Amino acid sequence: MKLSLPQFGALALSLQAVQSYSFSDEAFDIREATIDGVHDALHSRIASCRDIVSSFIARIEAFNPTVNALISLNPNALTIADEMDGKIASGNFTGAIFCIPVLLKDSYDTAEMNTTGGCLALAGNQPSVDAPSVAALKNAGAIILGKANLHELALEGLSVSSLGGQTINPYDHTRSPGGSSGGTGAAIATNFAVFGTGTDTVNSLRSPASANSLFSVRPTRGLISRAGVIPVSYTQDALGPIARNVRDLAKALTIMASVGYDPNDNTTALIPPSSIGVDYSASLYGGSLNGLRFGLLQGFFNYTSSDETTPVNTVMDGMVSTLKAAGAAVISINETVYNATAIAALDVQSSEFRQQMDIYLSQSSGTIPSSLNQLYSSGKSLVIPSQYNHVDTALRSSTSNSSYAPTKLAIEELSKVLRATFTTNNLDAIIYPEQKNLVVKIGSPSQSGRNGILAALTGSPVVTIPAGFSPRTANAPVGVPIGMEILGLPWTEGKLLNIALHISDLTNVRRMPSFANRSVEATSYSAVPTITPLANIPSVYPIGIY
Ligand SMILES: *[C@@H]1O[C@H](CO)[C@@H](O)[C@H](O)[C@H]1NC(C)=O
Ligand SMILES: *[C@@H]1O[C@H](CO)[C@@H](O)[C@H](O)[C@H]1NC(C)=O
Ligand SMILES: *[C@@H]1O[C@H](CO)[C@@H](O)[C@H](O)[C@H]1NC(C)=O
Ligand SMILES: *[C@@H]1O[C@H](CO)[C@@H](O)[C@H](O)[C@H]1NC(C)=O
Ligand SMILES: *[C@@H]1O[C@H](CO)[C@@H](O)[C@H](O)[C@H]1NC(C)=O
Ligand SMILES: *[C@@H]1O[C@H](CO)[C@@H](O)[C@H](O)[C@H]1NC(C)=O
Ligand SMILES: *[C@@H]1O[C@H](CO)[C@@H](O)[C@H](O)[C@H]1NC(C)=O
Ligand SMILES: *[C@@H]1O[C@H](CO)[C@@H](O)[C@H](O)[C@H]1NC(C)=O
Repeated sequence: MKLSLPQFGALALSLQAVQSYSFSDEAFDIREATIDGVHDALHSRIASCRDIVSSFIARIEAFNPTVNALISLNPNALTIADEMDGKIASGNFTGAIFCIPVLLKDSYDTAEMNTTGGCLALAGNQPSVDAPSVAALKNAGAIILGKANLHELALEGLSVSSLGGQTINPYDHTRSPGGSSGGTGAAIATNFAVFGTGTDTVNSLRSPASANSLFSVRPTRGLISRAGVIPVSYTQDALGPIARNVRDLAKALTIMASVGYDPNDNTTALIPPSSIGVDYSASLYGGSLNGLRFGLLQGFFNYTSSDETTPVNTVMDGMVSTLKAAGAAVISINETVYNATAIAALDVQSSEFRQQMDIYLSQSSGTIPSSLNQLYSSGKSLVIPSQYNHVDTALRSSTSNSSYAPTKLAIEELSKVLRATFTTNNLDAIIYPEQKNLVVKIGSPSQSGRNGILAALTGSPVVTIPAGFSPRTANAPVGVPIGMEILGLPWTEGKLLNIALHISDLTNVRRMPSFANRSVEATSYSAVPTITPLANIPSVYPIGIY
């Protein structure tokens, strides 16, 4: 992109005062931009920070009306970019993600923008401070570009909400983008920012990565403070980044985890000394796949042939061959305990949701309901509890339910079974497809076939990577993305990221969605435009039991 003086405004004078620059006419192509790529462009004066931010906004203007991934843009983004250009001019280029545009799932508290959870009843939710994870990103130089749609209140995996509408899969516009962090997934896949954030109560960081040819980390329980993020489950919730490559993912994880111990989320007290202040980028050196041992969970496949399942099984077969060819061992784990449907009986979110939400609502400000019951009686939501068993149960349940304590004990037992599988087979990691079938079509009643529950209950870290694509069709010109989970023992994020990098370098699976694989002419903005989500909610809502 070319720099013009009006765009640079008042900074032009101070720039000349510092040193003489020759601005390059060479354009910086932000498609698939990495953190290092953006920094090189800034250092070499190919682009200003304002140019970088403007280029992403131009892509959002061009492509968001098709995928409907975003709820709001940060009205301050260009002003912040100008401040950063001022810092560049004075030689103060600091922060690991200086001038890196980032999108947040709209459940992360921000003081600059309301935090809606995609729910009309929370349109007026105006947090007074940023979530600690958001503050950490900003302190490291991130520019929060906006907020992404999600499945309403992160309760399902279809990414449809009363406020944000239905987000559309960028690779196949007839399909959902996974979820619940599906707005972030669709946005990062379509290159609306360099990386984004999500949350995960059962699948929600992994399903959008899988369905959008992206990478994500669900960290070990406790690694990233969940304070200031709209909750679902004290036991199962986790925060993490979603990115287009492993190196950016490691940088984002390092920053989000830098919050460390946070008295407002006591699970952070679990972080062992060896995992405090870790630089996960430093894990991405050396090693190889040769000699590693991967457990393959047979129970996490659906071997009934169909257009929806066979592509997943074919891609996973290819992945196993790749790992073996690289010298790794792949051990079939056939124990019947690894049955995602059966394990889901231990899901405790319906016992925890109401209590967690009541605390969150009582601490936030703006014009919002003061309890979950009030929120749902307002009628300003996607579902009505009487027709949606999950919410209906949550409104009547608490951690005092007689089933709660025994279920928590059963989760501890499951964690021991998982540890035993690692020990007896001498495993480095466990692998399986995130979803047994392709991500479901828009209008489906649920995001069926996902395998996220094992890590969600045991608090195990998972790095999800692109594994392949289904065959091309008219609806899916590059195929539908298929993702693989790499699950490890607690606090092994560094090792999992290194494995992910080796596999990614070998397979080079990630592709852009074809509808958005073109450059968009940079525009000069006087102000950040506003976003209007589509009113495209499928007619199946409100729905019944899923
Ligand atoms: C450089 O920027 C950092 C971060 O914004 C700030 O704390 C510091 O004071 C700045 N230093 C100078 C010399 O301007
Ligand atoms: C944000 O919340 C405030 C306080 O409730 C409200 O006045 C404002 O209209 C909200 N903004 C949007 C864009 O809904
Ligand atoms: C940790 O926080 C949860 C939720 O706020 C609370 O129920 C629990 O008692 C706390 N545990 C400890 C050991 O403080
Ligand atoms: C397995 O896949 C078949 C074919 O798509 C489907 O009919 C069936 O419901 C699936 N089974 C499970 C347990 O998901
Ligand atoms: C697990 O099942 C696979 C086939 O599904 C078989 O090849 C393998 O030998 C079995 N492993 C064990 C340990 O029984
Ligand atoms: C998995 O568990 C479900 C629910 O308990 C059960 O219906 C199904 O038969 C199990 N699948 C296998 C392969 O055992
Ligand atoms: C908790 O108890 C209430 C009241 O008996 C009941 O309606 C609800 O279904 C129970 N919830 C769970 C998760 O068992
Ligand atoms: C964009 O499309 C071109 C031409 O079809 C293709 O060669 C390239 O790999 C695509 N880029 C990405 C990142 O998918």
